[in-house]
Amino acid sequence: MKHITKVYGSLRANDDVHLTLDKGEVLAVVGENGAGKSTLMKILYGLEQPTSGEIYLNGRLQRFRSPHDAIAKRIGMVQQHFMLLNPCTVAENIVYGREPRKHGLFFDREAAVRITEELCGKYGLHIDPRRRVGDCPVGLQQRVEILKVLYQDADIIIFDEPSAVLTPQEVGELLATMRKLAEMGKSIIIITHKLHEVMTVADRVMVMRQGRHIKEMPKAETSIEEMSFLMVGRRIVERKVAPRETTGAVLNVRDLVLAGPDRKNLLDHFSIHVDGGEIVGIAGVSGNGQSELIQCLTGLTAPTSGSILLQGQDVAGRTVGQIREAGCACIPEDRYLWGCAAQATLTETAVMAHHRRPELSKHGLLNGRNARAFTQELLEGYDVRNGGQSQKAGELSGGNIQKLIVAREIEQKSPLLIAAEPTRGVDIGAMEFIHSKLLEKRERGDAVLLISSELTEILALSDRVYVIYEGRAAGEFRRADANEEDLGILMMGGTLHEAI
Ligand SMILES: Nc1ncnc2c1ncn2[C@@H]1O[C@H](COP(=O)(O)OP(=O)(O)O)[C@@H](O)[C@H]1O
Ligand SMILES: [Mg+2]
Repeated sequence: MKHITKVYGSLRANDDVHLTLDKGEVLAVVGENGAGKSTLMKILYGLEQPTSGEIYLNGRLQRFRSPHDAIAKRIGMVQQHFMLLNPCTVAENIVYGREPRKHGLFFDREAAVRITEELCGKYGLHIDPRRRVGDCPVGLQQRVEILKVLYQDADIIIFDEPSAVLTPQEVGELLATMRKLAEMGKSIIIITHKLHEVMTVADRVMVMRQGRHIKEMPKAETSIEEMSFLMVGRRIVERKVAPRETTGAVLNVRDLVLAGPDRKNLLDHFSIHVDGGEIVGIAGVSGNGQSELIQCLTGLTAPTSGSILLQGQDVAGRTVGQIREAGCACIPEDRYLWGCAAQATLTETAVMAHHRRPELSKHGLLNGRNARAFTQELLEGYDVRNGGQSQKAGELSGGNIQKLIVAREIEQKSPLLIAAEPTRGVDIGAMEFIHSKLLEKRERGDAVLLISSELTEILALSDRVYVIYEGRAAGEFRRADANEEDLGILMMGGTLHEAI
């Protein structure tokens, strides 16, 4: 790609960018949120037209008017938000768009299954062709997307932030798949801001910042420090968190049980406490009861039994509003499902849950001017890049909506903050910022419960760590005694004895 420029109104999303990709290599494109990575990939895949610039494939000038043109030239893209048909089977999804037909007419279901089995065998990616896609975990759904692109005979495969939705185990498998595809002669582009993934999988790295190509280099000649410096244009400092005195328990969860649809408990006599002035981390492979725990703590689900003492008051089974009143704010794990309404304006998004404050409303009517002033403070204080307060929440990029939700919840100034995957999908600069805000909250003497599938994040911030496994608290560590290996053993269902 040569001299690619893409202008949206007054914004240069891509500014004279060049990109080369060799056969059989993995190229990582890294950069902060808004650096222009997705835009460049959309241009390569025909989803967007460049304002100027050219694309050459094997030396020949191309013009892609739509993904259809790009696919015909063997370029495939694994979408970040999967475009799969949930009620259909794996095989049906893979052949969709180019289905095998009986007598040139009827969809040939058995042939679709056969084709899928052959593809799986050829690339060593295993999945049951007859399973309904909607029943597959996210990691497998992504595998269906990859197989679909392979069925379309792609030689160039683009992955736009593929690991944002995966568990650590699934990420490991995905990276291994990419390496294997590259060895089979495919050319891979991975967009990510997880730099350890770059170090694992890439042959070469290209760094973008503010729409521009900053530098590219072989992986072997760079380091995580250099890449993060180039991405944000300044040095990221690793923080050392000093231990501090804690006050009594703000949150005390005792014997919490949430019965499941079968006889298994989703939460199984789960007990933890979080004191004022500490960050307590919950580590675990996602799907071990974290979501259910958050739902019980915030009032979305009533627990079957057990107590949730928030500042001494049992809030188990209370409503969301009552629990917020009692002193709990929450950065939810799924920012689109629980954190905002896509159609709400930024003002509306920012004042949600602040809307009863006397300076923001009177007799049930919002004070528009004060609401806008308050929103502006959040947008500026948390560096939310936006197109004005009347923009819709759903139009902000993932990292920016996350920052707005973090701002809104931290500024509740509540005694307890539940932070679930607070930095999922955000770049390294925003991650550093969100971490510093969580630490500030701890400094103020508030309690923070951090639920994260990123062990590095848990270890960087927590004063104490619990592991959650199959709905139980499987171990408790002080920061000084916690390390990735021991936590990992407990996360996989091992025992404390094995861990130590
Ligand atoms: N369709 C669009 N209309 C207007 N601005 C856009 C559009 N798509 C992206 N942008 C802007 O272009 C910039 C680059 O975005 P993007 O390529 O998505 O960044 P990245 O993928 O690196 O996070 C951002 O400032 C974004 O808000
Ligand atoms: Mg992007």
